Amino acid sequence: MEQGEAIKQLAEDIFRSKKTIALTGAGISVESGIPDFRSAGGLWSRYDPEEYAHIDGFRREPVKIWNMLREIIAVIEAASPNAGHKALAQLEEMGYLSSVITQNVDGLHQAAGSRHVIEFHGTNRYLVCLRCGYRGETKSFETQSAVPYCPNCGAVLKPDVVFFGEPIPADAMREAFEEARQADLVLVVGTSAVVFPASSIPSTAKEHGAKVVEVNLEETPLTGAVSDYIIKGPAGETLPEVVERIHGLAGR
Ligand code: APR
Repeated sequence: MEQGEAIKQLAEDIFRSKKTIALTGAGISVESGIPDFRSAGGLWSRYDPEEYAHIDGFRREPVKIWNMLREIIAVIEAASPNAGHKALAQLEEMGYLSSVITQNVDGLHQAAGSRHVIEFHGTNRYLVCLRCGYRGETKSFETQSAVPYCPNCGAVLKPDVVFFGEPIPADAMREAFEEARQADLVLVVGTSAVVFPASSIPSTAKEHGAKVVEVNLEETPLTGAVSDYIIKGPAGETLPEVVERIHGLAGR
């Protein structure tokens, strides 16, 4: 299906849907200046995730991991929502989107105005202590120059994001799969769909009768297997066009 036709189809599918949800990944924030992980030049082409994004590595060498974290936090702090984030917030505002389940930790969906956001991989807004359980806002620590230490027990603090080898927050896990089971349409935006269990959200929805539509620059393992169709192109351009068409269908 060529892009124009797919955009028209998605607008009609959303307009008719009783419950649409979105699963988003790093790709939706690329147009905000935050590199994704697995595209050419992505974060994992410069840092080995086994070494830099696994909880065992953080426990072993937290100061080294903070060299990468500092770079990510600086980029996230400088970023603002793009037209793709705003389009999803508009869909929720218009009553056409029930929730955004995001793998991103950058808070840009909330900054764009989305209210029902399920942060499946945690959030960069807080730092936590693995030793004593302390939790504090990232912005109250000067993470650009130093490694943040726990004010309670002195251990090195960790962003409240899910590292490989850590569990998904229980509330997020429960809520996301509840949404997936009840949805009749899932928008899968800007994710390579290779990291479990987030990658099983679309197939869970499909098993419960939902249609699955991808918005991505390129195909993923879902394409042709789980997805009904894909809109190829940058989310910051394609999603606003979908919203525009829905306005037309709604006669606004
Ligand atoms: N519009 C739409 N899709 C895009 C855009 C864009 N402007 N730019 C990139 N993409 C797509 C890429 O083609 C790719 O399929 O976004 C996807 C990004 O994939 P990844 O970099 O693997 O990011 P993500 O799927 O979110 O990774 C999942 O892996 O490293 C862990 O915890 C981390 O949450 C992350 C998880």
